[in-house]
Amino acid sequence: MSNLQSSSEIRNNRVLVCVGGGIAAYKVCEVVSTLFKSGVEVKVILTRSAQEFITPLTLATLSRHPAYTDNDFWQPTHSRPLHIELGEWADLIVIAPLTANTLAKLTYGMADNLLTNTVLASTCPVLLAPAMNTDMWEQLTVQRNWQQLLIDSRYHGMSTASGLLACDRVGAGRMAEPPEIVTRVHSLLHTGGKRDLVGKRILISTGGTREYLDPVRFIGNPSTGKMGLALAQAALHRGANVTLVHGVASWDVPLGVQAIPVISAEEMQQVMLEYLPNADVIIMSAAVADVKPKDYSSEKLPKRSLPQALPLEPVPDIVAQLAQLKQAHQLLIGFAAQTGDIITPAKEKLQSKKLDVIVANPIDQPDSGFGSNNNQAIFLDGQGHKLEIAHCSKLEMAHHLFDFVMSRDA
Ligand code: C5P
Repeated sequence: MSNLQSSSEIRNNRVLVCVGGGIAAYKVCEVVSTLFKSGVEVKVILTRSAQEFITPLTLATLSRHPAYTDNDFWQPTHSRPLHIELGEWADLIVIAPLTANTLAKLTYGMADNLLTNTVLASTCPVLLAPAMNTDMWEQLTVQRNWQQLLIDSRYHGMSTASGLLACDRVGAGRMAEPPEIVTRVHSLLHTGGKRDLVGKRILISTGGTREYLDPVRFIGNPSTGKMGLALAQAALHRGANVTLVHGVASWDVPLGVQAIPVISAEEMQQVMLEYLPNADVIIMSAAVADVKPKDYSSEKLPKRSLPQALPLEPVPDIVAQLAQLKQAHQLLIGFAAQTGDIITPAKEKLQSKKLDVIVANPIDQPDSGFGSNNNQAIFLDGQGHKLEIAHCSKLEMAHHLFDFVMSRDA
């Protein structure tokens, strides 16, 4: 068995947040604060109109760096031009909110303030989070600029959401929410902007299944589906077409992911089999309840009628069935959540279920596994490759898994 090196040490970490003049600017405070708390080094530029909405002092305090404005740009006190310094410093630039004005300037390569000069003086990926009134966003000129700018692969666009806008209209043009922006930032820091899953169709199952005894009681498990959600986000951010089949979930499905909710193992089996033929990569990260009650009562059973011993029967082993039906070009990845020794049972499942890759993850370690935002794991494949991933966020884990899979392909 050969050990591969985890790439977690090679990490970009410097994010330049550029704030445009729109009311959504206040939400950027949360983006800056969350990024800082997660260990990212953040510097901020504000346009002149952004300062009508929030102050440089707020963002300087949250980022622990001076927040730069056009006044700094024109000061002769820097040893090197500020836009060159900042452009070279950044591993990633985030423009949020992106206004119609800044969008138009970037589209035509204009450089009349610190923000636009810095973008032109840099080569790193740029994440754009537009925000404006619906009519502004839907203008032909604005849409044309948006499409035109995104042709350049260094620009990564976030979708605008629909909702109540500050102008009291309900419609498109709302800036993506801060957690979505932060997640995308972490993805871009990991990948450096590469879209290596473009054209790949990825089918992911996640969450726990439930097997009901009556309308209120069920056999289930504590899985929250966060690992599969992170896999869906990471795949989407790398350009894949993603279908997410999930059990009961408390999170929002990311924009751009096709989500199919299911309850029982049999429902999950049905959907997975239906979508299997159109998938290139299938990831079974769901915690499928292994058994179900033999009998189901459509009426809630009174306490006194509850069986003393519950007769059980097995549910279908979905991943084993997928392994039998899959074509040679399709890649099937399973998960093995274990206590104690995680490798031996994972190796056994890799073989018995005929998987291409298995992710063995401990569920008896602090802040890992079920319900946590973090995880740790060992990836094993049928060719004897082994990669150990130390404790990290589930999003980071998801990216490591795609790196592992893509490196096997190469
Ligand atoms: O539960 P177990 O540890 O066997 O799960 C290993 C893998 O098998 C996981 O990928 C899980 O999603 C899958 N599985 C399944 N159908 C089951 C049980 C598990 O597809 N009934």
